[in-house]
Amino acid sequence: MSALHLIRHGAVAELRLDNPDKLNAFTGEMLAAVEPYCEALERDASVRAIVVSAEESRAFCAGADILAWSELEPWAFARHWVRDGHRAFDRLARLCKPTIAAINGHAFGGGLEFAATTDIRVMAPAATLALPEAAVGIVPGWSGTQRLIRLLGEPLVKEMALFGRRISAERALAVGFVAEIADDPRAVAFNIAERLADTSARSTEAAKYMIHAAVGEDRNAMIEALGAGMVGATEDRNEGVSAFREKRKPQFSGRWT
Ligand code: COA
Repeated sequence: MSALHLIRHGAVAELRLDNPDKLNAFTGEMLAAVEPYCEALERDASVRAIVVSAEESRAFCAGADILAWSELEPWAFARHWVRDGHRAFDRLARLCKPTIAAINGHAFGGGLEFAATTDIRVMAPAATLALPEAAVGIVPGWSGTQRLIRLLGEPLVKEMALFGRRISAERALAVGFVAEIADDPRAVAFNIAERLADTSARSTEAAKYMIHAAVGEDRNAMIEALGAGMVGATEDRNEGVSAFREKRKPQFSGRWT
């Protein structure tokens, strides 16, 4: 049975694709698990970083489950498969905690879009990246022509989406899409995640918001979250609420709590 597992390893949590018979292709059930897991991960203060990985197979993820979406009516394909997929992947991309992908094998279509939601990626030497949707009569639907353009650049995404070219690990490293090539990407991803334990969780979160605001990943929400964090750290918020309750004029001191 296909699944997306959430596994805790102390301060590091792992989101693991498990559908090896279909090269870890994403089913509707796996997609539906993303948002509740993100919610749980954000609420659990003991989790500092998340590793995104896949069961051993030739592929990290061969994309969306072709048999699942091909059975959908066109309206359901657009409305649910594509838009629900966007919502789930956006949620993952915008997690307040750092994420690391361990790309142990080929990352195609939705598998590449899934890896693109993470903050840093480690890739096996023989793994490749591709956007093969045109070969099955569709287009990239989970941000392959949007978020991926930012990460890989227009020329490379055109090579992949229009001409079906596969990108090697060396090329992915050269363009900065992956940070490291490693024989055991999962071990390296865990190593990176564990090193975060000595850093400030608040600093990491704020830096992620600032970078996302700069590159346009949920810019409006990121800016307002940063502002809310700054003002929320003063006594003014409590004073404002107390004054409202007590029906009196607030006395704002602006002091940090
Ligand atoms: N959805 C559903 N099943 C998939 C799948 C996908 N995206 N990708 C692979 N599979 C299944 C195959 O049907 C096959 O199942 P079977 O053993 O029951 O026949 C199994 O996974 C192994 O795949 P196979 O094609 O035999 O492996 P390969 O090593 O020869 O080729 C790929 C690997 C990745 C090149 C090839 O599987 C492929 O092109 N997959 C589709 C990729 C794609 O188009 N992704 C975008 C989808 S929108």
